[in-house]
Amino acid sequence: MKENIQKISEELDRLAAESLEQAEELRIRFLSKKGEIPALFADFRNVAPEERREIGQALNSLKQKATEKINALKASLERGGSTEDSDLDLTRPSGEHEIGSRHPISLVRNRIINIFQNIGFSVSEGPEMEDDWHNFSALNFPPEHPARDMQDTFFIEKGEDHAKQVALRTHTSSVQVRVMENTKPPIRTLSPGRVFRNEAISARSHCIFHQVEGLYVDKNVSFADLKQSLFYFATEMFGEDTKIRFRPSYFPFTEPSAEMDISCILCKGEGCNVCKYTGWLEIMGCGMVDPAVLKNCGIDPDVYSGYAFGMGIERIAMMLYSVKDIRYFFENDKRFLKQFTAAF
Ligand code: PHE
Repeated sequence: MKENIQKISEELDRLAAESLEQAEELRIRFLSKKGEIPALFADFRNVAPEERREIGQALNSLKQKATEKINALKASLERGGSTEDSDLDLTRPSGEHEIGSRHPISLVRNRIINIFQNIGFSVSEGPEMEDDWHNFSALNFPPEHPARDMQDTFFIEKGEDHAKQVALRTHTSSVQVRVMENTKPPIRTLSPGRVFRNEAISARSHCIFHQVEGLYVDKNVSFADLKQSLFYFATEMFGEDTKIRFRPSYFPFTEPSAEMDISCILCKGEGCNVCKYTGWLEIMGCGMVDPAVLKNCGIDPDVYSGYAFGMGIERIAMMLYSVKDIRYFFENDKRFLKQFTAAF
């Protein structure tokens, strides 16, 4: 009797089934009325009285072991796993996982967004394929403006009639038109996104890059508001001791227009090869939204005024991380990408 119990117990240890049918066959073999274990129970009456206690316990645990083992086989097969899963050791350490990191362009974009969100800006997005109205005409680009030239723009549909042209957007200013057309002031929004220009690819420029555009339209918005907001941004982004300066510039859609510089983040204005010994780094274009643009977008320029600014994310990322070649951002070389970690 003892030997039989031992033999069946060992067999149960090796038990495996490839299908539910096989598992059911095992149940019938060991546990059904005419199965091997009930047969042992039937033999129990022949066991000597002094052995009954020990053998009775052994029989009961054998039955329990068989029931548990076969149920586990069935459960595992129902989950679609192989029966070996029933030996799965959940306490074993798992294999190594490589943790990814955010792309440096996303890191810088998120930091910019975060800073402006603190002063009430929302985020808006628009299409990368734009019509002439949103990319150029509404923004006050005269028909003969050189930026409309094949030189700078990737056209999807060209043709003589400007109104029918479709192109990859050359700047995210197209999104400010869409927002103004669809929203009543006050408007405070950022539009980050990918832009495209038909330029030769080199260490300093690429035909695809990223911009963040900002737009603020309300009653009584002035150039002083623009300066203060951008000063706040510069000190949050580049450090408390950052200085800013504005140089007069020209954009068709802003009047007056300016280019904003920050004091060089490497030499703090002393002069180094990054700032070409000027002490200043050009960071973005900006200006007061031209009244003609407000009008084009259905906003009354006699009631409202606004400011806008736009910056290139790659440029800022190159300065912040001392990246010498813009092409690194697009090559997805893991050795490059692995170097960037941050909380954003
Ligand atoms: N759209 C301009 C560019 O691509 C930047 C800009 C945006 C300038 C908003 C002024 C106001 O260069």
